[in-house]
Amino acid sequence: MSKPKVVLTRKWPAIAEAKAQAMFDVVLNENDQKLSVAALKEALRTADAVCPTVSDFQIDKEILSVAGRKCKILSNFGVGYNNIDTVAAKAAGVVVTNTPEVLTDCTADVAMGLLLAVARRLGEGERLVRNKQWDGWCPTHMLATKVTGKKLGCIGFGRIAQAVAQKAHFGFGMEIIFYDPYPPATAVIKKFSATQKDAVEDVLKDSDFVTLHCPGGGANTHLMNADRLGMMKTSAFLINTARGDVVDEQALVQALRDGVIRGAGLDVFAQEPTVTEALLSMENVVLLPHLGSATTETRVAMGLRSLANVEAFFSGNEPGDRVA
Ligand code: DGY
Repeated sequence: MSKPKVVLTRKWPAIAEAKAQAMFDVVLNENDQKLSVAALKEALRTADAVCPTVSDFQIDKEILSVAGRKCKILSNFGVGYNNIDTVAAKAAGVVVTNTPEVLTDCTADVAMGLLLAVARRLGEGERLVRNKQWDGWCPTHMLATKVTGKKLGCIGFGRIAQAVAQKAHFGFGMEIIFYDPYPPATAVIKKFSATQKDAVEDVLKDSDFVTLHCPGGGANTHLMNADRLGMMKTSAFLINTARGDVVDEQALVQALRDGVIRGAGLDVFAQEPTVTEALLSMENVVLLPHLGSATTETRVAMGLRSLANVEAFFSGNEPGDRVA
């Protein structure tokens, strides 16, 4: 039997591409250019499986409706799958999978890194040194906010939030509070001595740091709007490693300018790779280019997980990470 044809929409780490080549009839994206809508349509028309990712054009109803579509599974390279219209995929009978778990720790590391960097003014300090503007230690130089022992509010308390809580609670003695419409088991809550709140707003009012761990899109778009930013403490910091659209960037700029909150650490943006211009010149924000899962170990694991889902599907089994 011939191998299923599989299109990878972007370049993957070499180990994962080699594995893909061993398993399937693979089309790689050697020059790593973002596929056009026409190219995505062609991929869905000609391949049995497509492995898209967060930076692709959204695979929507129009793309899924391409005449003569052969593709039966969209095996997303990434845990977040807002780059796929899952309702349209389901209606078209196309299976959708993602790559959870393998990126949990690395994404949590970046959330914790942003939290530390913005609270302790590390980006600002580094710029000072690089710009040769540091004129020496003194007792009042660049005083910042202590992290240890502070209260961390998690919006969403799934795998990544729990991994952040692990580091924050056991590493930095932070108190954990959270809101999640689908809370974890009581044993998980107990493990972190965490406090479950009834609403997002209750977390915002009470936290020294707020870290976002909810999916993007739908009702979560602009969840952090001017009103909710206004509920945070003026001394608090916002951390976003989830999806950019969860934060209203204009409202965030205004909140940072007006001292509504003290700072923000952002790994994701609404219009990646474009970043709202005003943020670029602000000292009280730390900005990263969507690095959450960006370690060699994790990106290889994401590729292998995506391939395992494709393999399960074509072996007649239920893919382990089916989301639609
Ligand atoms: C994810 O897996 O969702 C990361 O943000 C990369 O897409």
